[in-house]
Amino acid sequence: MTFSRPLTPLLLLSAVAAACGGQQNKPTPTESPEAITAGMHRHFDDVNQIQTSLISGDLPGARRLAGQLRAGFSGPMPAGWKPFVERTIASAEMMEASDNIEMAAHIAGTMAGTCGACHEEQGLEVLQEDGTSPSEDDFMRRHRWASEQLWNGIIGPSDSAWQAGAAVLRDSKFTAAEVEDYIVTTPEIEELIAKMQASSEEAQSTVKPEERQRLYGNLLAGCALCHSKMLQEHD
Ligand code: HEC
Ligand code: HEC
Repeated sequence: MTFSRPLTPLLLLSAVAAACGGQQNKPTPTESPEAITAGMHRHFDDVNQIQTSLISGDLPGARRLAGQLRAGFSGPMPAGWKPFVERTIASAEMMEASDNIEMAAHIAGTMAGTCGACHEEQGLEVLQEDGTSPSEDDFMRRHRWASEQLWNGIIGPSDSAWQAGAAVLRDSKFTAAEVEDYIVTTPEIEELIAKMQASSEEAQSTVKPEERQRLYGNLLAGCALCHSKMLQEHD
Protein backbone atom coordinates (compact mmCIF):
# COMPACT_ATOMS: atom_id res chain seq x y z
CA MET A 1 0.00 0.00 0.00
CA THR A 2 1.42 3.36 -0.91
CA PHE A 3 0.04 6.67 0.21
CA SER A 4 0.90 9.70 -1.83
CA ARG A 5 0.90 13.24 -0.70
CA PRO A 6 0.27 15.42 -3.74
CA LEU A 7 -0.37 18.45 -1.56
CA THR A 8 1.77 19.54 1.34
CA PRO A 9 -0.12 19.87 4.62
CA LEU A 10 0.08 23.67 4.38
CA LEU A 11 -1.44 23.77 0.93
CA LEU A 12 -4.00 21.32 2.13
CA LEU A 13 -5.05 23.47 5.05
CA SER A 14 -5.43 26.48 2.82
CA ALA A 15 -7.52 24.36 0.47
CA VAL A 16 -9.66 23.39 3.41
CA ALA A 17 -9.92 27.03 4.53
CA ALA A 18 -11.01 27.96 1.02
CA ALA A 19 -13.60 25.22 1.11
CA CYS A 20 -14.88 26.73 4.34
CA GLY A 21 -15.86 29.88 2.49
CA GLY A 22 -12.58 31.71 3.10
CA GLN A 23 -12.81 31.67 6.89
CA GLN A 24 -9.32 32.21 8.19
CA ASN A 25 -9.85 30.45 11.51
CA LYS A 26 -6.73 28.92 12.93
CA PRO A 27 -7.00 25.18 12.71
CA THR A 28 -7.94 23.58 15.98
CA PRO A 29 -5.71 20.71 17.16
CA THR A 30 -8.16 18.19 15.72
CA GLU A 31 -7.62 19.72 12.30
CA SER A 32 -3.82 19.56 12.42
CA PRO A 33 -2.37 17.79 9.40
CA GLU A 34 -1.16 14.94 11.62
CA ALA A 35 -4.61 14.49 13.16
CA ILE A 36 -6.25 14.52 9.74
CA THR A 37 -3.84 11.90 8.41
CA ALA A 38 -4.27 9.73 11.50
CA GLY A 39 -8.05 9.99 11.14
CA MET A 40 -7.80 8.98 7.48
CA HIS A 41 -5.78 5.91 8.34
CA ARG A 42 -8.46 4.94 10.85
CA HIS A 43 -11.23 5.42 8.29
CA PHE A 44 -9.25 3.38 5.79
CA ASP A 45 -8.80 0.55 8.30
CA ASP A 46 -12.52 0.64 9.07
CA VAL A 47 -13.68 0.49 5.46
CA ASN A 48 -11.14 -2.18 4.62
CA GLN A 49 -12.41 -4.33 7.44
CA ILE A 50 -15.95 -3.74 6.21
CA GLN A 51 -14.86 -4.91 2.77
CA THR A 52 -13.16 -8.01 4.20
CA SER A 53 -16.19 -8.91 6.34
CA LEU A 54 -18.54 -8.60 3.38
CA ILE A 55 -16.29 -10.70 1.13
CA SER A 56 -16.32 -13.45 3.70
CA GLY A 57 -20.10 -13.25 4.08
CA ASP A 58 -20.11 -11.73 7.57
CA LEU A 59 -23.00 -9.23 7.66
CA PRO A 60 -23.12 -8.76 11.47
CA GLY A 61 -19.38 -7.96 11.41
CA ALA A 62 -19.85 -5.41 8.62
CA ARG A 63 -22.74 -3.79 10.50
CA ARG A 64 -20.70 -3.47 13.66
CA LEU A 65 -17.77 -1.98 11.72
CA ALA A 66 -20.10 0.48 10.00
CA GLY A 67 -20.98 1.78 13.48
CA GLN A 68 -17.28 2.14 14.20
CA LEU A 69 -16.72 4.04 10.94
CA ARG A 70 -19.65 6.34 11.72
CA ALA A 71 -18.23 7.10 15.18
CA GLY A 72 -14.87 7.90 13.58
CA PHE A 73 -16.51 10.64 11.50
CA SER A 74 -18.40 12.23 14.37
CA GLY A 75 -15.71 14.60 15.70
CA PRO A 76 -15.08 18.24 14.79
CA MET A 77 -14.20 18.85 11.15
CA PRO A 78 -13.51 21.65 8.70
CA ALA A 79 -16.84 23.14 7.57
CA GLY A 80 -16.24 22.35 3.88
CA TRP A 81 -16.15 18.65 4.72
CA LYS A 82 -19.66 18.52 6.07
CA PRO A 83 -21.55 17.35 2.98
CA PHE A 84 -19.14 14.45 2.41
CA VAL A 85 -19.05 13.49 6.04
CA GLU A 86 -22.85 13.55 6.19
CA ARG A 87 -23.00 11.25 3.17
CA THR A 88 -20.49 8.89 4.77
CA ILE A 89 -22.50 8.81 7.99
CA ALA A 90 -25.71 8.20 6.03
CA SER A 91 -24.12 5.21 4.24
CA ALA A 92 -22.83 3.85 7.53
CA GLU A 93 -26.29 4.13 9.09
CA MET A 94 -27.84 2.35 6.12
CA MET A 95 -25.32 -0.42 6.43
CA GLU A 96 -25.95 -0.76 10.15
CA ALA A 97 -29.65 -1.19 9.38
CA SER A 98 -29.24 -3.47 6.35
CA ASP A 99 -30.66 -6.94 6.70
CA ASN A 100 -29.15 -8.58 3.67
CA ILE A 101 -25.59 -8.84 2.51
CA GLU A 102 -26.28 -7.89 -1.09
CA MET A 103 -27.66 -4.55 0.00
CA ALA A 104 -24.73 -4.04 2.36
CA ALA A 105 -22.29 -4.76 -0.50
CA HIS A 106 -23.90 -2.06 -2.62
CA ILE A 107 -23.79 0.39 0.26
CA ALA A 108 -20.06 -0.35 0.62
CA GLY A 109 -19.55 0.72 -3.00
CA THR A 110 -21.34 4.02 -2.34
CA MET A 111 -19.40 4.51 0.87
CA ALA A 112 -16.05 4.14 -0.89
CA GLY A 113 -17.35 6.51 -3.55
CA THR A 114 -17.91 9.21 -0.94
CA CYS A 115 -14.32 8.89 0.27
CA GLY A 116 -13.24 9.24 -3.36
CA ALA A 117 -15.49 12.22 -4.04
CA CYS A 118 -14.01 14.21 -1.17
CA HIS A 119 -10.44 13.34 -2.17
CA GLU A 120 -11.22 14.30 -5.74
CA GLU A 121 -12.66 17.63 -4.67
CA GLN A 122 -9.49 18.33 -2.69
CA GLY A 123 -7.42 17.51 -5.77
CA LEU A 124 -5.99 14.41 -4.09
CA GLU A 125 -5.29 10.89 -5.26
CA VAL A 126 -4.56 9.24 -1.95
CA LEU A 127 -4.13 5.64 -3.12
CA GLN A 128 -2.37 4.25 -6.16
CA GLU A 129 -2.04 1.05 -8.03
CA ASP A 130 -0.34 -1.73 -6.09
CA GLY A 131 2.85 -2.52 -8.03
CA THR A 132 2.91 -6.19 -7.04
CA SER A 133 0.90 -8.66 -9.05
CA PRO A 134 -1.05 -11.51 -7.60
CA SER A 135 0.19 -15.09 -7.83
CA GLU A 136 -0.93 -16.81 -11.01
CA ASP A 137 -1.92 -20.12 -9.49
CA ASP A 138 -4.18 -19.04 -6.64
CA PHE A 139 -7.36 -17.90 -8.33
CA MET A 140 -9.14 -16.62 -5.22
CA ARG A 141 -6.16 -14.53 -4.22
CA ARG A 142 -6.15 -13.07 -7.71
CA HIS A 143 -9.82 -12.17 -7.39
CA ARG A 144 -9.10 -10.70 -3.98
CA TRP A 145 -6.15 -8.69 -5.28
CA ALA A 146 -8.19 -7.44 -8.22
CA SER A 147 -11.15 -6.38 -6.08
CA GLU A 148 -8.82 -4.56 -3.75
CA GLN A 149 -7.41 -2.56 -6.67
CA LEU A 150 -10.94 -1.65 -7.77
CA TRP A 151 -11.76 -0.61 -4.22
CA ASN A 152 -8.61 1.52 -3.91
CA GLY A 153 -9.39 2.91 -7.34
CA ILE A 154 -12.73 4.18 -6.04
CA ILE A 155 -11.35 5.55 -2.76
CA GLY A 156 -8.17 7.16 -4.22
CA PRO A 157 -9.67 7.94 -6.57
CA SER A 158 -7.11 6.29 -8.84
CA ASP A 159 -7.81 5.36 -12.42
CA SER A 160 -4.61 3.31 -12.65
CA ALA A 161 -5.55 1.22 -9.62
CA TRP A 162 -9.00 0.60 -11.10
CA GLN A 163 -7.51 -0.38 -14.46
CA ALA A 164 -4.96 -2.70 -12.84
CA GLY A 165 -7.74 -4.53 -11.01
CA ALA A 166 -9.95 -4.61 -14.09
CA ALA A 167 -7.19 -6.13 -16.24
CA VAL A 168 -6.57 -8.96 -13.78
CA LEU A 169 -10.29 -9.62 -13.43
CA ARG A 170 -10.71 -9.83 -17.18
CA ASP A 171 -7.85 -12.33 -17.49
CA SER A 172 -8.89 -14.46 -14.56
CA LYS A 173 -12.60 -14.63 -15.01
CA PHE A 174 -14.70 -16.59 -12.58
CA THR A 175 -15.39 -20.10 -13.78
CA ALA A 176 -17.34 -23.02 -12.39
CA ALA A 177 -14.18 -25.16 -12.68
CA GLU A 178 -12.48 -22.98 -10.07
CA VAL A 179 -15.05 -23.67 -7.42
CA GLU A 180 -16.58 -27.05 -8.16
CA ASP A 181 -14.17 -28.87 -5.83
CA TYR A 182 -15.46 -26.77 -2.96
CA ILE A 183 -19.09 -26.05 -3.58
CA VAL A 184 -22.09 -27.72 -5.19
CA THR A 185 -22.57 -25.87 -8.48
CA THR A 186 -26.33 -25.50 -8.42
CA PRO A 187 -28.07 -23.47 -11.16
CA GLU A 188 -28.11 -20.59 -8.66
CA ILE A 189 -24.32 -20.72 -8.33
CA GLU A 190 -23.92 -20.97 -12.09
CA GLU A 191 -26.05 -17.89 -12.54
CA LEU A 192 -23.95 -16.08 -9.97
CA ILE A 193 -20.75 -17.08 -11.78
CA ALA A 194 -22.19 -15.80 -15.07
CA LYS A 195 -22.92 -12.46 -13.40
CA MET A 196 -19.40 -12.29 -11.99
CA GLN A 197 -17.99 -12.96 -15.45
CA ALA A 198 -20.10 -10.21 -16.94
CA SER A 199 -18.96 -7.69 -14.32
CA SER A 200 -15.36 -8.80 -14.80
CA GLU A 201 -15.63 -8.08 -18.50
CA GLU A 202 -17.29 -4.71 -18.00
CA ALA A 203 -14.84 -3.34 -15.45
CA GLN A 204 -12.28 -2.02 -17.94
CA SER A 205 -14.78 0.03 -19.87
CA THR A 206 -16.54 1.37 -16.77
CA VAL A 207 -15.41 4.91 -16.13
CA LYS A 208 -17.99 7.06 -14.34
CA PRO A 209 -17.59 7.03 -10.55
CA GLU A 210 -21.22 6.01 -9.89
CA GLU A 211 -20.96 3.18 -12.42
CA ARG A 212 -17.72 1.96 -10.90
CA GLN A 213 -19.38 1.98 -7.49
CA ARG A 214 -22.31 -0.01 -8.81
CA LEU A 215 -20.09 -2.55 -10.56
CA TYR A 216 -17.97 -2.92 -7.45
CA GLY A 217 -21.11 -3.42 -5.35
CA ASN A 218 -22.26 -6.17 -7.73
CA LEU A 219 -18.93 -7.96 -7.52
CA LEU A 220 -18.71 -7.67 -3.76
CA ALA A 221 -22.25 -9.00 -3.42
CA GLY A 222 -21.19 -11.97 -5.57
CA CYS A 223 -18.17 -12.76 -3.36
CA ALA A 224 -20.40 -12.49 -0.29
CA LEU A 225 -23.20 -14.68 -1.66
CA CYS A 226 -20.96 -17.51 -2.83
CA HIS A 227 -18.88 -17.55 0.34
CA SER A 228 -21.94 -17.48 2.61
CA LYS A 229 -23.39 -20.37 0.62
CA MET A 230 -20.17 -22.25 1.13
CA LEU A 231 -20.27 -21.59 4.87
CA GLN A 232 -23.85 -22.89 5.01
CA GLU A 233 -22.93 -26.06 3.11
CA HIS A 234 -20.09 -26.77 5.49
CA ASP A 235 -22.10 -26.14 8.63
C1 HEC B 1 -14.45 15.28 3.84
C2 HEC B 1 -13.36 14.90 3.04
C3 HEC B 1 -12.81 13.51 3.15
C4 HEC B 1 -13.53 12.35 3.30
C5 HEC B 1 -15.04 12.15 3.40
C6 HEC B 1 -12.55 11.30 3.32
N1 HEC B 1 -11.29 11.79 3.19
FE1 HEC B 1 -9.57 10.73 3.17
N2 HEC B 1 -8.50 12.41 2.96
C7 HEC B 1 -9.01 13.69 2.96
C8 HEC B 1 -7.92 14.64 2.92
C9 HEC B 1 -8.06 16.15 2.91
C10 HEC B 1 -6.73 13.89 2.91
C11 HEC B 1 -5.30 14.38 2.87
C12 HEC B 1 -4.82 14.56 4.29
C13 HEC B 1 -3.61 13.75 4.53
O1 HEC B 1 -2.58 14.01 3.91
O2 HEC B 1 -3.70 12.82 5.31
C14 HEC B 1 -7.12 12.49 2.92
C15 HEC B 1 -6.24 11.46 2.91
C16 HEC B 1 -6.59 10.12 2.98
C17 HEC B 1 -5.66 9.01 2.97
C18 HEC B 1 -4.14 9.13 2.83
C19 HEC B 1 -3.53 9.38 4.18
C20 HEC B 1 -2.02 9.55 4.04
O3 HEC B 1 -1.31 8.78 4.67
O4 HEC B 1 -1.61 10.42 3.29
C21 HEC B 1 -6.39 7.88 3.06
C22 HEC B 1 -5.87 6.45 3.08
C23 HEC B 1 -7.78 8.27 3.14
N3 HEC B 1 -7.87 9.64 3.08
C24 HEC B 1 -8.82 7.38 3.25
C25 HEC B 1 -10.16 7.76 3.35
C26 HEC B 1 -11.25 6.83 3.41
C27 HEC B 1 -11.13 5.32 3.41
C28 HEC B 1 -12.40 7.56 3.47
C29 HEC B 1 -13.83 7.10 3.52
C30 HEC B 1 -14.24 6.23 4.56
C31 HEC B 1 -12.00 8.95 3.43
N4 HEC B 1 -10.65 9.03 3.35
C32 HEC B 1 -12.90 9.98 3.44
C33 HEC B 1 -10.34 14.05 2.97
C34 HEC B 1 -11.41 13.15 3.09
C1 HEC C 1 -18.97 -18.90 -7.13
C2 HEC C 1 -18.33 -18.91 -5.88
C3 HEC C 1 -17.32 -17.87 -5.48
C4 HEC C 1 -17.33 -16.53 -5.77
C5 HEC C 1 -18.31 -15.76 -6.62
C6 HEC C 1 -16.19 -15.97 -5.08
N1 HEC C 1 -15.51 -16.93 -4.40
FE1 HEC C 1 -13.89 -16.66 -3.21
N2 HEC C 1 -13.92 -18.61 -2.70
C7 HEC C 1 -14.71 -19.56 -3.29
C8 HEC C 1 -14.28 -20.87 -2.87
C9 HEC C 1 -14.90 -22.18 -3.32
C10 HEC C 1 -13.20 -20.67 -1.98
C11 HEC C 1 -12.40 -21.73 -1.25
C12 HEC C 1 -11.29 -22.14 -2.15
C13 HEC C 1 -9.96 -21.88 -1.57
O1 HEC C 1 -9.84 -21.83 -0.34
O2 HEC C 1 -9.03 -21.72 -2.36
C14 HEC C 1 -12.99 -19.23 -1.90
C15 HEC C 1 -12.03 -18.63 -1.13
C16 HEC C 1 -11.70 -17.28 -1.20
C17 HEC C 1 -10.63 -16.66 -0.47
C18 HEC C 1 -9.73 -17.34 0.53
C19 HEC C 1 -8.56 -17.91 -0.25
C20 HEC C 1 -7.42 -18.30 0.63
O3 HEC C 1 -6.43 -18.75 0.05
O4 HEC C 1 -7.51 -18.14 1.84
C21 HEC C 1 -10.59 -15.35 -0.82
C22 HEC C 1 -9.64 -14.27 -0.34
C23 HEC C 1 -11.65 -15.15 -1.79
N3 HEC C 1 -12.32 -16.35 -1.98
C24 HEC C 1 -11.92 -13.96 -2.41
C25 HEC C 1 -13.00 -13.74 -3.25
C26 HEC C 1 -13.39 -12.46 -3.77
C27 HEC C 1 -12.70 -11.15 -3.46
C28 HEC C 1 -14.49 -12.66 -4.52
C29 HEC C 1 -15.32 -11.63 -5.23
C30 HEC C 1 -14.65 -10.72 -6.12
C31 HEC C 1 -14.79 -14.07 -4.48
N4 HEC C 1 -13.86 -14.69 -3.72
C32 HEC C 1 -15.86 -14.64 -5.13
C33 HEC C 1 -15.79 -19.34 -4.11
C34 HEC C 1 -16.17 -18.12 -4.61
